[in-house]
Amino acid sequence: MTAHPDLSRLIQALPKAELHLHIEGTLEPELVFSLAARNGIDPGYPSVDALRAAYDFQDLQSFLDVYYAGAKVLQKERDFRDMTRAYLERAREDGVVHAEVFFDPQTHTGRGIPFDAVITGILRGLEDGQREFGITSRLILCFLRHLSEDEAFHTLSEAKPFLSEIEAVGLDSAEAGNPPEKFQKVFAAARELGLRVVAHAGEEGPASYIRSALDVLGAERIDHGVRCTEDDELVARLAREKTPLTVCPLSNVALRVFPTLADHNLPELLRRGLNVSLHSDDPAYFGGYLGENFQATAEALSLSPEDIVACAENSFRAAFLPDETRREHVRSVQTAAARA
Ligand code: ADE
Ligand code: ZN
Repeated sequence: MTAHPDLSRLIQALPKAELHLHIEGTLEPELVFSLAARNGIDPGYPSVDALRAAYDFQDLQSFLDVYYAGAKVLQKERDFRDMTRAYLERAREDGVVHAEVFFDPQTHTGRGIPFDAVITGILRGLEDGQREFGITSRLILCFLRHLSEDEAFHTLSEAKPFLSEIEAVGLDSAEAGNPPEKFQKVFAAARELGLRVVAHAGEEGPASYIRSALDVLGAERIDHGVRCTEDDELVARLAREKTPLTVCPLSNVALRVFPTLADHNLPELLRRGLNVSLHSDDPAYFGGYLGENFQATAEALSLSPEDIVACAENSFRAAFLPDETRREHVRSVQTAAARA
């Protein structure tokens, strides 16, 4: 089944903010191969098709193993720049006008790549995206939660010369068994430095991790958060406080958080008044960029035009932008919706 043509036109026409996007998750197999060739590295698979075939996951960890292996082709500042620019070029096709991009410095510094090369390459790519495609952006540094808090502190110290270029810190990687409490001190230190806070919680981990991301880390936005529905009081709180949940439907199916898109709890989240927006997480690995997330979700869950517009509006309401800019973007969603 395909979405009603009017719905597809609406999805295409709406401006959107991408708020949950791991830049390393945009490495398409073709780019893995071209960067591997440029850097004289074995891509680990005989062909692009063989690599694409490996993008079949049982859970978050089985994905992370492939994702961290793929990132090894990123060696030089220029590689990070090319990856970032390529993502923004693709994002423009889906109506993305603002992107808040995660990066995982420890994935690279752990392999001996200097922090400076990683962040400078990404920042140059973001500048390319603004200049060439008109996409504004923010950068969010994620700590890998399977590593220690001491290692996160070391990464925070490496980030200090670049603080004016970093909007927020986040928390990603293997969730179950790595609760927010493990990183309480380093998030407090990041807040002291003026950084804002987001965190992955309630993807594979329990609803209690969402509570601790809010209360222990000071998260302003929850990445995923779909397991909040296991705790009615938490849902009521999230609705009351209008806490943004950055939901990634294709990711949730690829990593088997839900068996199929038709089983996703997005309609329940919307019905219960939560501030949800749609995002693409690791689009090269999960079968689609932002437009495909909207499209496939609208089809599988029979979303209404109002649901779709709400998700696009919420993406800007949740963005780390000045109030007036946020309001302008929300108005531009409404204008585009009225015209579509
Ligand atoms: N790193 C990249 N994608 C992730 C996800 N969906 N969850 C946790 N860590 C990630
Ligand atoms: Zn994510």
